[in-house]
Amino acid sequence: MNTPPRRAKRSFASAAPLLLLASASVASAAQTLSIGDMHSSYNRNIWWMSVAVIVMAILIFIGVSYALFYTVNKFREDKHTAEPDQFHGNNRLEQLLIGVPVIIVTIITILAARTMAIVNPTPADALHVNVTGAQFWWAFEYPDTPVTGGTVNVTNGNELVIPAGRQVAVTVTAKDVIHAFWAPNLGGQRDAIPGSKKTFQIDTDQPGVYQGNCTVLCGASHANMRFKVVALPKAQYDAFIAGAQAYKAPAPANSSEQNGYNIFMQGKASAAAAPCASCHRIQGTPAAGAVGPDLSYFGSRNTLGAGIWEGKAREAHIQPWIKNCPSVKPGCLMPVYEKLSDTDLADLEAYLLSLKLPESAAYWGKVPVR
Ligand code: CUA
Repeated sequence: MNTPPRRAKRSFASAAPLLLLASASVASAAQTLSIGDMHSSYNRNIWWMSVAVIVMAILIFIGVSYALFYTVNKFREDKHTAEPDQFHGNNRLEQLLIGVPVIIVTIITILAARTMAIVNPTPADALHVNVTGAQFWWAFEYPDTPVTGGTVNVTNGNELVIPAGRQVAVTVTAKDVIHAFWAPNLGGQRDAIPGSKKTFQIDTDQPGVYQGNCTVLCGASHANMRFKVVALPKAQYDAFIAGAQAYKAPAPANSSEQNGYNIFMQGKASAAAAPCASCHRIQGTPAAGAVGPDLSYFGSRNTLGAGIWEGKAREAHIQPWIKNCPSVKPGCLMPVYEKLSDTDLADLEAYLLSLKLPESAAYWGKVPVR
């Protein structure tokens, strides 16, 4: 499914100057990132906190402006040519000037502490997902969902499937340099730091496809380090997890897929092509590499290159990607396979696209793009 370009929703929320300043309009082919386009309890809690502070700031502005204009007008020189009375020390005025700011700061502190107490704790029934940032893609692992008959958990690359209506506790780390995980419609942002694990919550009660992006400069393809969050109704989410847990890659169905399979698993010495399986995993096959993204249900995905291409554009880029990855994505760490023939490249594409989840477990096209 190829999604047409969308304009940012112009909501009252996104019109507020404070949020406009804070919302980054990171350009994407299909979706605009904005914290003003709120789809999560986190964003709504932060928004009401912001409204309270903005209202107080406006009241203070009006009060100070009134006092200023009143004073300037009352003591204008043309009215009062004599010098006004001088005085030193005014207990009442000093108490006001100290007391009022203390009250204002106390109110803001209480509001902030209350908001933090609401959005920070991980609920006991939260779904746990481990997120690992790498140059330049995202690994998503579901630690509570072991794969049938194996020791590994359900994993996915660059497409995070979550249930709508349930808090998702995201534990973020990185394996090379510092990245940052941010799905602005669904929650806050966390740095992904090698050796560190930080947990925070994202959530939404509106099923849909949401955009995410890396937000810390991490190298040549920082801007190409995107991801999708697909929030499904509970039943569809459960079907995805069940399908992913039980997934076994289908055997190659024809000679083209068989050739693709062979190159993937063993490489092709005559074309100086190393086995793809050294770096990538395909569930139900000997391929168990963990260097690059898990490709287990590649045929059921909709994005390529960490969200650079979607739908039809994705399919058009699979072969150029395999042939010379750094030429289509700057800084891509995958080796080049330039000596593979066009037939070999087409066969690899055919094999990868044959790796599909059962229709009941597939997650694209079932919820709207938001
Ligand atoms: Cu990863 Cu920027």
